[in-house]
Amino acid sequence: MLKVDVIVIGAGAAGLFCAAEAGKRGRSVLVLDHAKRIGGKILMSGGGRCNFTNMYASPENYLSANPHFCKSALSRYNQWDFIALVTQYGIAYHEKTLGQLFCDDSAKDILKLLLSECDKAGVQVRHPVEVQNIDKTAEGFELETSQGQFGCDSLVVATGGLSIPKLGASPFGYKIAEQFGLKVLPTRAGLVPFTLHEQDKAALAELSGISLDATAVCNHTSFRENILFTHRGLSGPSVLQISNYWHPGETVTFNLSPGQNLTEFLQTEQQAHPDALLSTTLAKLFPKRFVQVALEYFALTNKPMKQYQGKQLEQVADAFMQWQLKPNGTEGYRTAEVTLGGVDTNELSSKTMEARKVPGLYFIGEVMDVTGWLGGYNFQWAWSSGWVAGQVV
Ligand code: FDA
Repeated sequence: MLKVDVIVIGAGAAGLFCAAEAGKRGRSVLVLDHAKRIGGKILMSGGGRCNFTNMYASPENYLSANPHFCKSALSRYNQWDFIALVTQYGIAYHEKTLGQLFCDDSAKDILKLLLSECDKAGVQVRHPVEVQNIDKTAEGFELETSQGQFGCDSLVVATGGLSIPKLGASPFGYKIAEQFGLKVLPTRAGLVPFTLHEQDKAALAELSGISLDATAVCNHTSFRENILFTHRGLSGPSVLQISNYWHPGETVTFNLSPGQNLTEFLQTEQQAHPDALLSTTLAKLFPKRFVQVALEYFALTNKPMKQYQGKQLEQVADAFMQWQLKPNGTEGYRTAEVTLGGVDTNELSSKTMEARKVPGLYFIGEVMDVTGWLGGYNFQWAWSSGWVAGQVV
């Protein structure tokens, strides 16, 4: 049996980062992953450019049953620490929008950084390896795997969430938590497009490909970014963001004119161009194809502006500014960027990520019930949680 100080299960963002940190402290570290190719999510992230952190990352950008849990790790290893590391590696990056930092060239640079950090710290990464069984012993843990038996003092579970099964996602981390008597909170797909009920889908199908600036509101939370009509339903950053806050059966309210008061705009236009059709007027703000479909969808009559009473103009504006949509569901884990829920943070130390009931067992990254917004926040959680565990395992 090969015995090391630390075994990390999962060679993703959190696992590799934690392994490198532990290795730097002189610990012997072995990382095991069942995937043929590792770092799949990193390579796919940010459209191939990896949105590796966010300049404004703070605890408010994370969802968790215990919103305080993430504070300690995020403050001990923050976005500026990771940016410094990226800079040290000479990786060029830029801010795309809203503090989101992307590689100029390729997400491969971030994977190379992680593997290089592991290499420098003497970390062994083995894959593909199936972990078949885990036992707790007096000295630590023993693992049965497809490559034989391994033993360790500290076991770090960094198996991520359930999103994108074809990239190696599995519920293994939750099973390990349950095996050791730790509570796992129900999981659901997050940062995911909405699917629509048949009637909405049919009415809006023609809009596929149109993107609009919009505010999405649900459960007292709102995001203003673009929404994108697709042939399956609704996507775009505003929709992905609000999907984290939405539960089946709930309604999402969209303001399709977040930049200006549409009532005032219509009133002004009515004075200036009384003979213009409502559709022509609205086409000053929205794509023509959208206006045509929207008037029918909202059951609005298309008349010259002068024929609308004040109240009627308000009704038109309300239709666009308070569009109430009840999604049918989401596209699920197949396309979701993250998994909400997971290992209950009450079971873990926020300083070290160690399971309170099981000394030597750690959970880091997305496997636990900490989920970030869209925009680099999830990788920052992988770095922060991985780093704090890496200092103690
Ligand atoms: P991660 O999923 O990275 O790694 C888990 C590892 O565990 C994988 O290598 C997997 O193979 C392995 N594993 C799973 N089960 C196992 C088992 N049974 N045995 C052994 N190994 C096992 N976030 C962000 O901040 N910016 C972005 O740009 C993006 N973009 C993005 C795009 C897409 C398409 C997706 C799906 C996700 C993103 N994300 C993102 C989210 C981000 O990728 C995610 O939050 C982190 O990768 C989570 O890091 P972890 O290390 O926790 O899990």
